[in-house]
Amino acid sequence: MTEIRKVGVVGAGLMGSGIAQVSAAAGYDTVVREVEQGFLDRGMARIEKNLDRAVAKEKLGPGERDAIAGRLHPTVDLADLAGCDLVIEAITENLEAKHELFGAVGGVCEDDAVFASNTSSLSITELAAGTDRPDRFVGLHFFNPVPVMPLVEVVRCGQTSKETFDVAFAFAKSVGKSPIACGDNTGFVVNRLLVPYMLDAIRAYESGIASIPDIDKGLRLGCGYPMGPFTLGDFVGLDTLYHITEIMYNEYKEARFASPPLLRRMFLAGYHGRKTGKGFYDYSGPEPVVSDFVK
Ligand code: 3HC
Repeated sequence: MTEIRKVGVVGAGLMGSGIAQVSAAAGYDTVVREVEQGFLDRGMARIEKNLDRAVAKEKLGPGERDAIAGRLHPTVDLADLAGCDLVIEAITENLEAKHELFGAVGGVCEDDAVFASNTSSLSITELAAGTDRPDRFVGLHFFNPVPVMPLVEVVRCGQTSKETFDVAFAFAKSVGKSPIACGDNTGFVVNRLLVPYMLDAIRAYESGIASIPDIDKGLRLGCGYPMGPFTLGDFVGLDTLYHITEIMYNEYKEARFASPPLLRRMFLAGYHGRKTGKGFYDYSGPEPVVSDFVK
């Protein structure tokens, strides 16, 4: 079985930086690649902040933090992925961009390197088919915030070899996660169930049954969820949620996956949640309040 020693993470956004952090924390030399220095710096700063917070809470010693930081190798040069045994892609949810990336990475890495995508909704089968190694391709879907959420969905498509799946599953365990095995259906397990739930919450609000804070409160206090559906939507990003609905609706053609008009309008207006400061809630004050778009 392929031994993973060096890991490449492509994309240093919220997900990529989290994956790089847990990979380096688990002892892997981890190359973090971004297209632009500014994005790379932002991703590395996010990791540094998380590690410093862990040191401040005495969950990590300063020596351990420095060792983890020493295993992270930020770069804007794709060629630095040479020698990686596993490359995990966490770039934008765009099929062409991912195909282009894996085409280029295929020219840099050894033939036996395993390629993985952190996509939340694109087809692993289609991504694998566009690479030079469909049998060594697998989905590794982490959850936000990656350093905290214990789940990884390990997604096997028709072309994925048993060895590749086993390597990916073992890797997920080795970074402290609890993986589950999934087949390649858009949304895998979690988003297939979670996305219609979040869309239903928006429809419930649109039909006037309760306010946004009360629907959130209902699900938090009535079901023990850590966040209500609107808070979670803002946390995940309403742009991300909207794109996922587009992909899922396109695959299943079922009304429950279709974007409610309100979500589409908020996406078009740039109300993308926490990342833009406003979504269902406005985050500019000391406490979130219902945003002007939905007042
Ligand atoms: N990055 C790193 N660590 C974070 C963090 C972040 N963004 N946010 C919180 N943490 C850490 C804190 O440091 C703290 O660590 P500690 O236990 O070591 O002290 C711990 O998480 C708990 O944080 P807080 O006490 O500040 O806050 P909460 O108890 O409210 O927890 C939360 C925050 C973990 C985000 C919790 O609210 C939660 O679980 N929310 C639901 C998240 C969720 O459902 N994620 C899945 C989204 S769907 C997805 O990702 C799929 C995609 O494809 C769309």
